[in-house]
Amino acid sequence: MASRKTFYIETFGCQMNVHDSEKVIGTLEHHGYARVETEEAADLILYNTCSIRDKAEQKVFHRLNDYKSLYRQGKRFGVLGCVAQQEGERIFERAPFVSLVSGSASYRKLPEMLVQIEQGATRVTGLDDRQTEETFETEFTARSNPHRGYITIIEGCDKFCAYCVVPYTRGKERSRRSQSVLDEAQRMADSGFTEIQLLGQNVNSYRDPDGRRTFAELLAAVGVVPGIRRVRFTTSHPRDFTRDIVQAIDAVPALCDHVHLPVQSGSSKVLRLMQREYTREQYLERIGWIREAKRTISLTTDIIAGFPGETAQDFEETMDLLDQVQYDGVFAFKYSPRPNTPALSMADSIPEEEKSKRLQVLLDRQREIQRVNYEKHLGEVLEAMVEGVNPARAQIVGRTSQNKTLNFTTGQPIAPAPGSYLPVRVTKTFPNSLVGEALA
Ligand code: 5AD
Ligand code: SF4
Repeated sequence: MASRKTFYIETFGCQMNVHDSEKVIGTLEHHGYARVETEEAADLILYNTCSIRDKAEQKVFHRLNDYKSLYRQGKRFGVLGCVAQQEGERIFERAPFVSLVSGSASYRKLPEMLVQIEQGATRVTGLDDRQTEETFETEFTARSNPHRGYITIIEGCDKFCAYCVVPYTRGKERSRRSQSVLDEAQRMADSGFTEIQLLGQNVNSYRDPDGRRTFAELLAAVGVVPGIRRVRFTTSHPRDFTRDIVQAIDAVPALCDHVHLPVQSGSSKVLRLMQREYTREQYLERIGWIREAKRTISLTTDIIAGFPGETAQDFEETMDLLDQVQYDGVFAFKYSPRPNTPALSMADSIPEEEKSKRLQVLLDRQREIQRVNYEKHLGEVLEAMVEGVNPARAQIVGRTSQNKTLNFTTGQPIAPAPGSYLPVRVTKTFPNSLVGEALA
């Protein structure tokens, strides 16, 4: 490999993966690599992969096949992330030109693995298999946005929901010291960040290794770091969601008024089959806590349609839950059978066609709910954080505390700087976004 080594990285999947890539980029740059924007210009090509559903996984293998010819030009390939951990050394069989396979729990060993590749090793692996107690913390994180950034507070997952690959791909649950999180938040604030998003597969099972702070206390402490104006967190698990989180949101203005609380199904029977460890009633109890907050907290969720054993009646219960909760956003997916998971061997699988039908019915209903919810903002003045400009529509793209997109005009010749905050009056609404005019 030439002396000035270059790398290209492409990220699939969730925010955890996006943030892992930021840490991988920082680590490689510290190791002497320069990032390039095309595969053609790179010595090392990395895919940070997702295996949450079959489609996500197929994408990766298609991509790897596309680049056979680049291997002949001396380029090297690495597969990182969830497909890497899930498929392990089988990737070398399916894609023989791959040199590096590493799951997220092994990234702290990346520098050593890079040296091995540079020395010509062709089958370098970092596969952890739920053993590690360590977290991947690095001071070299290359955050892509200078105003809004992620901080991981907990890695891995011990929940083992029947449909989910994550416990197998991201290893066992391990929390980061709360003081280390706060130090990073402070460093970010010092370098100009105003929004922080705390990340974890299940932030509610956060356990400070030093025993100093609960999750709600950590949340509140990040919210009072000088310079930080917005704090978000994701993802929550209903079983571990506690009332003190709502109290923290009420007490600390910087905590955003939005909670993403994945329900997966509105039927207690299906929730039991999914091994979610809560009932519909318990879920609704938590929604009740959130609704009792002093501020209006926006709610979003994830739903799986067509889990094995989901009857038409069960699905009706999910539809009924949508009507009851009135979410501001729903990420809905057709159930996708995943390797290693208990649901793989469950009877009563639903035909693909029926899954699609249920998904569509659900999305149509939700769109109607959102149309009504978003309409309620008409005439309100909301604070927007500027994300950028949409030149095609001559609009500023902003985001509200509730995490809603708010596109607006200012009447000024010069657009406000990304990362700035402006009061905006809502003049028009859609089921997925708001439109407004900045106040003078
Ligand atoms: N099939 C369909 N959706 C899934 N999710 C996780 N695993 C599966 C699967 N096997 C969804 C869940 C989760 C979101 C991130 O992805 O709704 O909350
Ligand atoms: Fe995909 Fe889950 Fe891995 Fe995120 S943790 S990349 S959603 S499989």
